[in-house]
Amino acid sequence: MQTEFRIFEVDAARVVEDQPVQVKLSDQAALAVYVIDGQYYAVDDICTHEFAFLSEGYCENGVIECPLHQARFDVRTGAALGPPASLPICTYRTEVCDGVVRIFVPTNACGYTRKTA
Ligand code: FES
Repeated sequence: MQTEFRIFEVDAARVVEDQPVQVKLSDQAALAVYVIDGQYYAVDDICTHEFAFLSEGYCENGVIECPLHQARFDVRTGAALGPPASLPICTYRTEVCDGVVRIFVPTNACGYTRKTA
């Protein structure tokens, strides 16, 4: 069975190290795009603990800290690195072409994106 994707685009020039760019999908769903050592990463922007936009938190060296209760996530893998969150955030495939980051979100994606996008 072939996977279907929704594709979102972000101007690559807007994405700066430790300053993620949010892509709002609805009031309750968003992605965030990060760049780490020249590689672009896209993840769900909603914390898996409660509702908070991770991109509003502190980011350093590819680790985002939730602004609400300070859970931390590795944006390269989505792994939860510290409590109170224990579930990972979803990660999405990216590619860069002509200065645009394209984010491929499977229509059956996990997490908040699937529920509300
Ligand atoms: S909402 Fe993110 S750690 Fe609680």
